[in-house]
Amino acid sequence: MLRTHTCGELRITDVNKEIILSGWVQKTRELGGMTFVDLRDRYGITQVVFNQDWDKTLFDQARALGREFVVQITGTVIERESKNKNNPTGEIEIKVSKLNILNESITPPFTIEDETDGGDELRMKYRYLDLRRNAVRKNLELRHRLAIESRNFLDKLNFLEVETPVLIKSTPEGARDFVVPSRMNQNQFYALPQSPQTFKQLLMVSGFDRYYQIVKCFRDEDLRADRQPEFTQIDCEMSFVDQEDILQTFEGLVKHLFKTVKNIDIPVIPRMSYADAMKYYGNDKPDTRFDMQLCELNQLVKGHNFKVFDDAELVVAICAKGAANYTRKQLDELTEWVKRPQIGATGLVYARHNEDGSIKSSVDKFYNEEELKKWSAACNSQAGDLILVLAGNEEKTRKAMSELRLEMGNRLGLRDKNKFSCLWVIDFPLLEWNEGDPNLLASLAGRWHAKHHPFTSPKPEDIELLNVNPGAVRANAYDIVINGVEVGGGSMRIHNKNLQAKMFEVLGFTKEEALHQFGFLMNAFEFGAPPHGGIAFGFDRLCSLFGGADSIRDFIAFPKNNSGRDVMIDAPSEISEEQLKELAIRTVK
Ligand code: AMO
Repeated sequence: MLRTHTCGELRITDVNKEIILSGWVQKTRELGGMTFVDLRDRYGITQVVFNQDWDKTLFDQARALGREFVVQITGTVIERESKNKNNPTGEIEIKVSKLNILNESITPPFTIEDETDGGDELRMKYRYLDLRRNAVRKNLELRHRLAIESRNFLDKLNFLEVETPVLIKSTPEGARDFVVPSRMNQNQFYALPQSPQTFKQLLMVSGFDRYYQIVKCFRDEDLRADRQPEFTQIDCEMSFVDQEDILQTFEGLVKHLFKTVKNIDIPVIPRMSYADAMKYYGNDKPDTRFDMQLCELNQLVKGHNFKVFDDAELVVAICAKGAANYTRKQLDELTEWVKRPQIGATGLVYARHNEDGSIKSSVDKFYNEEELKKWSAACNSQAGDLILVLAGNEEKTRKAMSELRLEMGNRLGLRDKNKFSCLWVIDFPLLEWNEGDPNLLASLAGRWHAKHHPFTSPKPEDIELLNVNPGAVRANAYDIVINGVEVGGGSMRIHNKNLQAKMFEVLGFTKEEALHQFGFLMNAFEFGAPPHGGIAFGFDRLCSLFGGADSIRDFIAFPKNNSGRDVMIDAPSEISEEQLKELAIRTVK
C-alpha cells in the first residue's frame, strides 16, 4: 500500500495513528534542527516533520528533498504546536519514521502554489505542472461537478445521451470548418462538427424524442477569452414540444445546476425580446446584474446648433448612478477610453446632475439648464448622477454605448462575480445581412445569413415576410444569457421539407447546392419528421461563469492559446512528406 490516507484527510481526531502518505514535495523549511515538508496531492497539503534529534539520517535525507520530488512517508499523526487555521489539516503534522523517495524531479519552471511566479505562456507549455496547482485543479473539479449534475438532471427527464460522429461533412454555413483529409478517398475531406446540429435533428426523425450529449465542437474562428477552437456543448434536442416547453425544461436545468453546485436559488428567469435587448442595452446579451439602460435622446437634442448631435443617426445616453463626482481628469480619461479603436466613438458628452440639483454639461454652450433637465427626465437621473452621451451612426453608437455601459458597470463595482442574473433573450431575427464577416467564407458576403442556423424555424406569422422583407422575419430562437455571457442558444426547427427548401433559397443556395449539402436532412424530412427543437449550452462558458472567471481557458484541461496553438504538444505542426503523399496533399511552399 503506497498510502493509507490522502494529504487532505487527517485531522486532530487522528492523533497517534500510524499512517502512510504519498505525494509531491511542495516546499521544505528548516527551523532549528527541524525540517518541515509540505506534502501535496490532489486532496490537500499535510505538513510532515523531521527532527535531527529523532533520527539524524532521516533528517539529512529530508534536507536533500527538492521541490516536486514524489515521496512516500510513514509516521505518526501528532498535534501541531502552531496551528494553521487556513488549512483543513493545519491542526496536525506527521512525525516521520520512514521516508521513501518514489521519484525525483528537476526544478520546476515555476512555483506550484496558489500564487505562482509563472507567466501565462510558460504555464501553458508545462500545463501538466500548472494542473497541479489548486486553482486550476479546482476549476476542473467544478467542471466535473457541472457535467455530473447536468447528466443527473437530463437523465431524470428521460434524455438519452447519444454519441454523434466527429468526422462529418463540410458545410460552408456557420463558422469555418476544420477539415480532415481522407486517405482512402483522395482529394476528399471530412469536416469536424461545429455542433451535432443535423445529427440531433435526425435522431428526432428516428424517434429518440429526447437527446443530449456533452460533446466537443470545432470552429475555425477568431479566438477570444470566451472562445476556443475546440469547445464543449451540452447539446440537447426534444420532440413534440413548443418553444415554451423548451424554455421551461432548460430553465429547470439552469436552476438545478445553480442549486446543486452553488447552493443558489435562481428565481424565474425573465424574458426579453431581441429588439428590447438591443434598444435598452445595445446588446443581444445584456448584463442584467445592473440597470443603467440606454436612453435615446434624438427627440430632445436636435436643432440646437450642436453639429455632432444634429448630424447623428442616434444620440443615446446612460445614467451612471452616483458618478457626478467624477473629476475632469476621470472624464477626460473616459473620453479617451471611448475613442479607442475597439470602442470607436468619436467623443463623449457628459452632464453632471450635481448634489444641489443643478445640471452642468460639457455642451452648455448649446443646451441651457432647461434643456438639460429634459435629458435628466428622459434618463431618470437624480442628484449625484452622471449622464454620459454618445452620438453617431446608429449601429456603431449603440454598440459603443453598450461597451461604455459595461465599463461603467465595472468602474462602479456593479458587476459582482458572486451575483448571478439570468435572462432569456427571445424572438431573434431569422436572418442577418452579411456585409463580409471575417469569421465566414468570403463567398458568403453580400447575402442573407442565418442568424442562428439554417434549420431554425421562422415564427409562423412572419413566414409571409420571407419573400418581401427577409430582414424583418423573426425566428423561434432564444439564447440564455447569464451576467452578460451568452451561455446557450437554440431554436425550434423547421420540420417541413418545403419550408426548409425555401430557407435555403433565401440563404442564396441553388436547389442543387442545397440538395448536395443537406439532401440527407431534406430526405429524412420526407419520412415523418416530428415537430422538434432544442438548445446547446456552451459548457466551458458555464464553467467559467460558475467559477467566477472571465476566460474559459482555465476550465479546460489542455486549452489552446490565442493563436489556436497547443504550446505544450506544439500543435498544429507540419506532417511528413510521406504522410502528405499518402493523403495526396501538395503543400505550397
Ligand atoms: P451556438 O452556435 O449558439 O448554437 O452554440 C451554442 C453555445 O456554444 C457556445 N460556443 C462556444 N463556446 C466556446 N468557444 C466557442 N468557439 C463557442 N462557440 C459557441 C456558446 C453558445 O451559446 N447547434 C446550435 C444549438 C441549437 O440550435 O440547438 C449551436 O451550436 O455558449
